[in-house]
Parts: sequence; structure tokens; C-alpha cells
Amino acid sequence: MTSFFNPFSLPILFLSILTFLSLTAHAADPVHLNTACENTTFSANNSIYQSNLNSLLSSFSSNANVDFYATTKGGNTSDPVYGLSNCRGDITRQLCRECVEAAVTELTNRCSRQKVALTWYDECILRYSNRSFLTTVDERPMFGLLNTQNVTDQDKFNQLLNTSMIALMTELAREISNVPTGAKKFGTQQVNISAFQTLYNLVQCTPDLSGTDCYGCLQDAIKLLPWCCSGKQGGRIVFPSCNIRVVKQEMVNIGKDVTELLSHQETSKAWEKKSKSYIIFKD
Ligand SMILES: *[C@@H]1O[C@H](CO)[C@@H](O)[C@H](O)[C@H]1NC(C)=O
Ligand SMILES: *[C@@H]1O[C@H](CO)[C@@H](O)[C@H](O)[C@H]1NC(C)=O
Ligand SMILES: *[C@@H]1O[C@H](CO)[C@@H](O)[C@H](O)[C@H]1NC(C)=O
Ligand SMILES: *[C@@H]1O[C@H](CO)[C@@H](O)[C@H](O)[C@H]1NC(C)=O
Ligand SMILES: *[C@@H]1O[C@H](CO)[C@@H](O)[C@H](O)[C@H]1NC(C)=O
Ligand SMILES: *[C@@H]1O[C@H](CO)[C@@H](O)[C@H](O)[C@H]1NC(C)=O
Ligand SMILES: *[C@@H]1O[C@H](CO)[C@@H](O)[C@H](O)[C@H]1NC(C)=O
Repeated sequence: MTSFFNPFSLPILFLSILTFLSLTAHAADPVHLNTACENTTFSANNSIYQSNLNSLLSSFSSNANVDFYATTKGGNTSDPVYGLSNCRGDITRQLCRECVEAAVTELTNRCSRQKVALTWYDECILRYSNRSFLTTVDERPMFGLLNTQNVTDQDKFNQLLNTSMIALMTELAREISNVPTGAKKFGTQQVNISAFQTLYNLVQCTPDLSGTDCYGCLQDAIKLLPWCCSGKQGGRIVFPSCNIRVVKQEMVNIGKDVTELLSHQETSKAWEKKSKSYIIFKD
């Protein structure tokens, strides 16, 4: 299986960049990854924050199919609340809406008394805070999510990861960072690492970041790839402001249209199901 595998025969066999894919709707529930309610509660009688937060959450519900939505509630009060939602760059508006609605429910249930909260799904992120965080890079809280299945030739794979993969993802990060502020900062990359094995890479920043900040955020995430994914068949580094993902597929297992693979809802589903994944927290 690994006889074609030579990490030093650069460039990598094939490389293509599939940006801004949009695919047909696919009925599936959003996949919840993680929720962080920050340890700063507001007092039970802080009705101002509570009502601003309620108003914020309901405005997310009514703008749930918007790819990127950022808003402030109570800007003229003593306790304003700032919020942001962002869907994965390649999903339908319908799936985006389902995800943001699920995220609103999740935060309402899990973090009802927290001033600062954040939830990540496979398809979207939703966060709010009493701090104005728009246009600032936040890399905490963060988590890594890795596929626990080992690759067959770990040493070679790790060399590939440490060199070529990081270079390729960095290049992709540079490209998506260069789009205008406010435009979707999302890109995917397919890297054939042998005749039988392909890696699908994904990078995304929230669109409020400047190009420089997006690139910086992604670089910090990419640096953690060896920590996350050495010897593993994929993984993710997830920050509030940006995230990256690597998915490895054996060619024999995939359908004809490989370009759909990464974007297709089934991919991550199948990937999560097939192999145990767990979350490791850093810091
Ligand atoms: C990667 O390999 C697959 C299967 O051999 C092929 O269909 C695909 O076109 C290759 N990708 C690129 C970017 O060349
Ligand atoms: C915050 O966390 C610390 C330790 O984790 C705990 O002792 C403290 O009570 C928490 N404070 C609030 C407001 O939840
Ligand atoms: C809010 O409640 C806290 C105790 O829970 C109390 O100390 C504080 O005075 C109250 N503030 C107001 C404005 O009622
Ligand atoms: C804040 O502004 C909104 C809209 O301008 C207004 O409806 C609301 O009454 C104001 N709230 C306060 C506390 O001034
Ligand atoms: C947010 O709330 C926390 C906890 O009450 C407080 O310590 C912090 O100063 C607030 N931040 C801002 C920007 O108001
Ligand atoms: C995966 O690789 C690690 C070290 O590289 C090893 O400790 C572990 O036992 C391997 N797991 C399996 C299931 O082979
Ligand atoms: C890859 O990088 C990690 C962290 O920098 C290091 O621990 C590991 O030994 C490297 N592996 C290879 C095969 O170069």
C-alpha cells in the first residue's frame, strides 16, 4: 500500500485547490464537536445582560442561514453582548441554518448563565462575549480532534507531515487570507500522497479577520499539526478564530467524484463513525 510513498519526491504527486465548493443539500444533523462556557457568570439579577443576550440569541435564530453573522446587542447599555456565527465555507444555507439553530439551543441549554460562551460544530461556530472580539484573533479556548487510527508507515507519514504538508497548507492559508476582509476565508486542498492515498485539507478563518490576522491564526494552527496528527489518519486544530483539518482517505474507499469528498456531509460523518475520535485539550 505504501510502495509509491516517497515524501521527498516533491512536489507531491498531485495537488488541487478546490475553493468555494457548494454542493447540493444533504439531509443530516449538524455534528456537535465541543462547547466551552467560560467561567464568568453574570449575577441572577443582571437583567440587562440577560435581556441583551436573549435578544442576541434570537437574532442568530432569525439570521441562521447567513454564512457569517456578527452583531452587538445593548451597545447603548452598561452590559453589551457581542456575538458571531460562521458556517463552514462549503455547506448549503439549509445546513448552515440547521447548525446555527442547533448551536443557539446548545448555548441556551449549556451556558445560560455565562457571559462568555462558544460552541463548535462540524458545520458552524457560534460564540458570544461581553468583550468586543470582532476583528481580533482568538486562539483560546482551543482543541485538537484526531482520528485515532494509525497510518501504516508512521515515520514516512510524519516526515511528510512535518515538511511538505505543512508547506502546502501554509500556501493554502496564504491564498485564502488574501481575499478581501468580509469575504469567505475558506479553502480546501487535495493532496495525493501515493497512488492509493489522498489527503483532504481544509482551512478556514472567520471573515472578520484581516488577511494578516487570518494567516497568522492559520499558521499557529498549522504549527500544531505534528502535535495533533503525527502518525494519525487525520485530525483538526480548532480555534475560535480559525481552524484546520486533515482527512486521509484510501482511494479504494472513495467514490468517483473525489472533489465532493471533503465537502460532503457524509465524509466527516463516515470518518467520525469509522474511527474513534477523541478530543484532547491543550491549556
Ligand atoms: C488524485 O488521484 C485520484 C485517483 O487516482 C485522481 O482521480 C485525482 O484526479 C488525483 N488528484 C489530482 C489533483 O490530480
Ligand atoms: C471558576 O473556576 C474556579 C476553578 O476552576 C472555581 O473555583 C470558581 O468557583 C469558578 N467561578 C465561577 C464564577 O464559576
Ligand atoms: C444582585 O444580586 C447580588 C447578590 O446576588 C447583590 O449583591 C446585588 O446587590 C444585586 N444587585 C442589584 C442591582 O440588585
Ligand atoms: C438603545 O437603543 C435602542 C435603539 O436605538 C433603543 O430602542 C433602546 O431603548 C436603547 N436602550 C437604552 C437603554 O437606552
Ligand atoms: C466581562 O465580564 C467579566 C466578568 O464579570 C469581567 O471581569 C470583564 O471585565 C468583562 N469584560 C468587559 C470587556 O467588560
Ligand atoms: C499507534 O501508534 C502509536 C505510536 O506511534 C502506538 O503507541 C500505538 O500502539 C499505535 N496504535 C495502534 C492501534 O496500532
Ligand atoms: C515532526 O515534528 C515533530 C514536532 O516538531 C517532532 O517531534 C517529530 O520528531 C518530527 N517527526 C519527523 C519524522 O520529522
